Amino acid sequence: MCKGVLFCVVLLVLVDSYASLRVKRQFFAPSEECVISHTDIDELVQLTKLIEGRKSSRKRPLNRNPSSPTQTTTDECSRKLGEFKVSIQDVLTRYSSMQKPSISANQYELLKAQQESELTDLMRRVDNLEREVEQRFRAEIERLRNSLQQLKRRLNDNLRLLEQEREAGRKAQEALCVEYIQGGNIEEAARIYRALNGTYDMARLTNDTYQMDADVVGSLVDFFVALQEDGQTFGTIGGYEMLYKLLERNNQLNRERSRIIFHSLVGLEHFYSDPLDIGRVETMRVKMINKLQSFVKGKVAGRR
Ligand SMILES: *[C@@H]1O[C@H](CO)[C@@H](O)[C@H](O)[C@H]1NC(C)=O
Ligand SMILES: *[C@@H]1O[C@H](CO)[C@@H](O)[C@H](O)[C@H]1NC(C)=O
Repeated sequence: MCKGVLFCVVLLVLVDSYASLRVKRQFFAPSEECVISHTDIDELVQLTKLIEGRKSSRKRPLNRNPSSPTQTTTDECSRKLGEFKVSIQDVLTRYSSMQKPSISANQYELLKAQQESELTDLMRRVDNLEREVEQRFRAEIERLRNSLQQLKRRLNDNLRLLEQEREAGRKAQEALCVEYIQGGNIEEAARIYRALNGTYDMARLTNDTYQMDADVVGSLVDFFVALQEDGQTFGTIGGYEMLYKLLERNNQLNRERSRIIFHSLVGLEHFYSDPLDIGRVETMRVKMINKLQSFVKGKVAGRR
C-alpha cells in the first residue's frame, strides 16, 4: 500500500509522464518499441495456409479465434500485425466471393482487381515492417513474407483454374443458345442470351448458328426480333449484318429470305439511340430493298 497520499500522487504523476514519454519515443522511433512474437507470426502464417488446394479452401475455419490476435505483443508492431490479419482475412473472403458461379463477369473482374491491389499493398507493408524492426525480428517477418508469397502463388493458380471453369461454363451456355435457335426454341434462346448479359457478340452468335444452313434464317430473325427491345444493348444490327454477309457470300439470299429480313428491319431504329447504329439499320434496310427490287427486275427481265 502507498505510504501517504502524497507519495501515491507523485508515483502516479511519474508513471503518467513516463507513459507519455514512451508514446513520444514511439512516435519518433517506432522500431525500438516493437516486439514481434513467434506466436503472432504463426497465427498469420496459419491464416495464409487456409487456401491450400482449390477445394480445401471451402472449409476454411475463419474466425475460429475471435479474440484479439495480438495479445502477446504490444505497441506499433502489434497494430501492424493486426492490420495484416484483417487484410489476409479480406483476401480470403474475397476469394470465396470470386468462386461463386453466380457473380457476373464484371463483378469478377472488379474483385480480381481489388484482390491484386490488396495483395500488392500487403506485401509492401510487410517489406516496410521488415525494414523497420530490430534485427532479431527480421527472420520472423521474413517467415510471414514467404508465406504471403506462397499464398499469392496459390491464389493465382486457383484463379487460373477458376477462370477456365467460368470460360467453359460460358461456352456451354453459348452452345446451348445456338442449339435452341437452330431448334426454333426462340424463347429459351433469348433467355440464355440475356443471362449471358452481352458477353456473346451478336455477329459471332450469328456465324455460330448459321453453319452454312440457310434454313436457320427464319429462326435467327425471330431471335433478333425477340431481343429487339434491347437492340441497342445487344447490338442486334450486328447480327443482321453478319447474316446478310454470310448469305450473300454463299449465294443463299433468295427472295423469301430477303423478304423475311426486310420485314423484321422495319421500325428497328426505334429501339436504337446511337445515331451510328441507326445509320447501320437504315443502310441494311436499303440493301434489302435493293435486293428485293433486283428479284422483281429479274422476274420482269425473265418474262421478256
Ligand atoms: C451486365 O452488364 C452490364 C454492362 O456491362 C453491367 O453493368 C451489369 O452489372 C451486368 N449485370 C449482370 C447481372 O451481370
Ligand atoms: C465463322 O465460323 C467459322 C466456323 O464455323 C469460323 O471458321 C470463322 O472464323 C467464323 N467467322 C467469324 C467472323 O466469326
